[in-house]
Amino acid sequence: MSTGAVGRAYPRLEGPAKVTGTARYAVEYPVDGVTYGWAVPSAVVRGRITRIDTTEALASPGVRAVVHHGNAPRMAPGPQPDLRLLQEPTVHYRGQYVAVVVATSLEAAREGARLVRIDYDTGPHSTVLTDDHPSLYKPDQVNPSYPTDTAEGDFDAGYAAAPVRVDVTYRTPAYHNNPMEPHATTAQWHDGRLLVHDSTQGATPVRATLAELFELPPESIRVVAEHVGGGFGSKGYAKASVVLAALAARHVDRPVKLALTRQQLFGPVGYRTPTIQRVRLAADTDGRLTAICHDAISQTSTIREFAEQIAVYTRSMYAAPHRRTTHRLVRLDVPTPFWMRAPGECPGAYALESAVDELAIAVGIDPVELRIRNDTDVDPDQGRPFTSRNLVACLRQGAQRFGWASRDPSPRSRRDGRWLIGTGVAGSSYPARARPSSATATARPDGSFLVQINATDIGTGARTAIWQVAADALGVPPERVEIRIGDSALPTAALAGGSMGTASWSWAVIRAAQALREKLRDGGPPTGEVTAEADTTEEVGGQPALPRYAYGAHFVEVRVDADTGEVRLNRMLGVFAAGRVVNPTTARSQLIGGMTMGLSMALHEEGLLDERYGDWVNHDLATYHITGCADVESIEAYWLDERDDELNPAGVKGLGEIGIVGAAAAVANAVHHATGVRIRELPIRLDKLIGVSDLA
Ligand code: MOS
Repeated sequence: MSTGAVGRAYPRLEGPAKVTGTARYAVEYPVDGVTYGWAVPSAVVRGRITRIDTTEALASPGVRAVVHHGNAPRMAPGPQPDLRLLQEPTVHYRGQYVAVVVATSLEAAREGARLVRIDYDTGPHSTVLTDDHPSLYKPDQVNPSYPTDTAEGDFDAGYAAAPVRVDVTYRTPAYHNNPMEPHATTAQWHDGRLLVHDSTQGATPVRATLAELFELPPESIRVVAEHVGGGFGSKGYAKASVVLAALAARHVDRPVKLALTRQQLFGPVGYRTPTIQRVRLAADTDGRLTAICHDAISQTSTIREFAEQIAVYTRSMYAAPHRRTTHRLVRLDVPTPFWMRAPGECPGAYALESAVDELAIAVGIDPVELRIRNDTDVDPDQGRPFTSRNLVACLRQGAQRFGWASRDPSPRSRRDGRWLIGTGVAGSSYPARARPSSATATARPDGSFLVQINATDIGTGARTAIWQVAADALGVPPERVEIRIGDSALPTAALAGGSMGTASWSWAVIRAAQALREKLRDGGPPTGEVTAEADTTEEVGGQPALPRYAYGAHFVEVRVDADTGEVRLNRMLGVFAAGRVVNPTTARSQLIGGMTMGLSMALHEEGLLDERYGDWVNHDLATYHITGCADVESIEAYWLDERDDELNPAGVKGLGEIGIVGAAAAVANAVHHATGVRIRELPIRLDKLIGVSDLA
């Protein structure tokens, strides 16, 4: 029955189209009569526009219009107030888009934008997160719908009574998503219907948001996202580009292409919130955790609450009788934070997996062994068994592959010339979720098959994975299967986010294929096309609520220049347990991509905000440093052959995000092992190492 396509390494189906330049991205479709939009950001943080002078801009060659709050088409109030752009003169954060210049060429639009004169009344602002900020508050819940705080046992008593304790505070800065393709949109109105080609992780949610904002039935809107050049979460929902392009196109009654610039991605499309995280751990002298507390502080904007689930990772990772987690938010005059690869788990694991390393040193137990001793088959948070939990197997296999056993635990115990060498480990976990989706499968008389689902391939290889799953489910060689994705006109499906794309889409595709096979069996050989459809809403909603997670273990070796404090990565090795792996080639890319992003978080990335201007000063790729190829000397990802039949018909857990979770902690732990210096504020820059230690 199965053709065995799942589990085999296929190159991406769209690879040839991408390398020959024929794959089209959002603003690359030829459109008759198209005009170009250029977004104008606010130059103040908080205030009110008192005057917009468009005279010079409109007189500039090629400029067709300046769209702003005084003349823009009206939008309905909706659940995403940060998307109600150009509707009112109020400015909530620096960089908020306050106008769009539309012109016959991109260059003319840009020049026009330079010539728009805007006057503002401004007020005082507050844009820097502190743990004693006057607007610190407790949100009602944290993303997506977790309780804000949890408590089991009696943390204070358990902590006070323990012989070994660690009380440490970690800080992470703002991080900015930098997909290769910026947020970009082509918008066209035809007879009251809206067609957009948008760079998004989910055409269905974008269509839903546009329908609300423009008060249209969803059937009047089509969102196409056939190829998407990365997202990492920042394109998880509709963003400014699609709203501005749709507004501008309606205003000028012409198609509009609008792409945000690289600089404009730093803030207004969302960023990972800075965090302040206090972690307290207590253990007995055997290293068994008795008390765990994780208090997380992060920021949101004044216009929309975004409560990152930072301490949620700690609720389920390690067992202890006394546990507490809390989240507090500070409302600032900043753009609303948004998703960035493993929102919540990523910063949370950095803090917890660093603190576990500090505890291992305090109690004198190897950090791999300490984690193994605190493993649990039962989710400490929910009190129910995990569907599968192979953290220990990941730690063991990773330690063996990495050569951990010979490690001298003493900091500064290895040296090679002027380089201090150290190794570090961290655990990792990420929820294995699925969302309802629908799909159709069609048999054609020529023996080929067509499978349609509004999945999105944001560069991950999703299209190829679905194709493999479809072939096996149909019981035919994959060469006979054609896949159509990336269009809201196709059957509605989950977005590419939360590491749940493959699980969600496979579920619907497998059910549609099964329905088609039944139809074909009942109906005899087809004379025309035969189509079957499936919708997993009831299946997915009815899945048993056993806790389900992917797991991993990171092992890192760094070298630190004893004179300059420069940190270099010698090698990074991860072992993961993420259910069934559909395509080893693209899976490996996801894992090493996540690990690289974690390395980047540990050593390089840092949004530096200047309170005077209320904005990040390093908003381009020259000044916001991201790990490059030369920073990664050796990186390896492995996975266990894990079968978990509780999950979904494809047996996958998802692996888009687990690679980043814990990775920064493993790097930081290795830096400590190399130098004896614990930097608790990322990134680990050389000046921080030099400042606190006589390295040489
Ligand atoms: Mo991912 S941050 O859920 O796109």
